[in-house]
Amino acid sequence: MLPRTPLFRWLAVVFFVALVFYFHPSFTGTSILLDSTSPPQISKSGSDDLTYVREVLSKHNIGPTVSYASRTIRYIFDAPDRPSITELDQNLFNKPFEDIKITKVSTLEADVPLEVHVKQSQRPDQIDASALIFGCSTTFQRFTDPKTSPISEWARWLTDGNGHSNGAGLVLALFDTTQEEIDHAAERLNSVGINATVVASDPTLDMPGRYVALVNMLYNHNSRDNRKFFILMDDDTFFPAMSELLNTLTHYDPAKPYYIGTFTERAQWLLEHQAPFAFGGGGIILTAPLAKQIAGLPCLEKTEDGRYVLDSDQGDRLLYNCIHQHTETRLTYLPLLHQEDQFGDPSGFYESGTMPLSLHHYKSWHAFIPGKAHIVVDACGEDCLLQRWQFKDNFILSNGYSVAQYPKGIDFDTGLMEGTFDMGGEEEMATNVAYTFGSLRKSLSGTGRKRSWELLDSTREGYGRVKQIYVKRKDDARWLAEGEEHPKYDSVIVLLWIP
Ligand SMILES: *[C@@H]1O[C@H](CO)[C@@H](O)[C@H](O)[C@H]1NC(C)=O
Repeated sequence: MLPRTPLFRWLAVVFFVALVFYFHPSFTGTSILLDSTSPPQISKSGSDDLTYVREVLSKHNIGPTVSYASRTIRYIFDAPDRPSITELDQNLFNKPFEDIKITKVSTLEADVPLEVHVKQSQRPDQIDASALIFGCSTTFQRFTDPKTSPISEWARWLTDGNGHSNGAGLVLALFDTTQEEIDHAAERLNSVGINATVVASDPTLDMPGRYVALVNMLYNHNSRDNRKFFILMDDDTFFPAMSELLNTLTHYDPAKPYYIGTFTERAQWLLEHQAPFAFGGGGIILTAPLAKQIAGLPCLEKTEDGRYVLDSDQGDRLLYNCIHQHTETRLTYLPLLHQEDQFGDPSGFYESGTMPLSLHHYKSWHAFIPGKAHIVVDACGEDCLLQRWQFKDNFILSNGYSVAQYPKGIDFDTGLMEGTFDMGGEEEMATNVAYTFGSLRKSLSGTGRKRSWELLDSTREGYGRVKQIYVKRKDDARWLAEGEEHPKYDSVIVLLWIP
């Protein structure tokens, strides 16, 4: 019987079985095997097992009694595009918030999943980033200090999310370091799947010098011939949308000299510099012809009194001075790269529905956990990160950043960014960022018109399934009107994304 069956029919069967496996791993029972970190018990509609939630809350000293709500969200890959915000004719929550003692309750009744339609976009295991090589100069101290270490963030966009490289290269130059530390750093990076080359930076160079010298290291890397783009970054630069970054870069011919980057969001700082240079925190992207030129230029030449001939005390500016002085290449401005030079509450930016190509300063000038936020990409794909949904019960979900409730209604223009930042007076802030963020709307902090649960943690619970914990602390004054009493308990929202 077998030999008489036409080959194509067998191929069709094989293809069909493969499809079933691919799209419905839960039917096959292999979803648990695919992810060794997933808990053994996964219920059909989820959000009921509180083990992980309990662990995270206890680690962050939240509870034991919390005001709790949860929702399961089923994503469906059939939307034609990725709007900044989508208004749904449904409530986010079926049930009201409930005060529960998290140490006592181990499961809650599962609810009916909410369905959202998203554009199909890449997950980390579908990305081939071998055209890119990144370079970063930092200290061993910053690299290993849990407060500043970039390892878990880098693992999100330099690997496939399962402990293997996504093809991208990394050159990490450590300052003032020993061979032992270099080996240790290389071991740490390779153990999470990052294809890294760790080297000591030239001890005779100062900080701007080390920065520019990275170009030579990237250009002289043994993988050079396979790379199209050579990218300088800081140790707190995050690339949340690698697939979109790769798409964007297809517009630039890697055989031609390109210097691609972004400005500070602050017009004032930009004008003070009087030079259109790429600010390093957002990432600076070079093509091989320009990297080659720079590697051969006297960028680091000094005068007799020890200053750079191309006078600057900042690496990114020194690089620009060298390119500007010695080549004909000028900056290609890519505004979706972000320097994020705003201080204070960053909500306005992360709740604007944007899909940035880079993020920066999230461990210093403001607080955000892109490594955790990005995990939802393993479920609903790269495009759904920071995508917004507005619900009938006056909640807006900014996926991976916050779930915000507007108790007096959503009576403002959601197309405008909220001016939540700490950048001097309102007028000064508005003027400063208008060219990049557009007009800002008034901050709702302290008005009682907004309450926000911000991402605390996130985990993958099987293939295509991600659980997020958002928290609103009882003593967060931003969510209280003048004279309003603090709520009795911290409040927790758990969202479970399922296919
Ligand atoms: C790491 O990159 C090098 C090129 O620099 C390549 O030869 C090697 O196969 C890569 N290793 C992995 C595990 O991807």
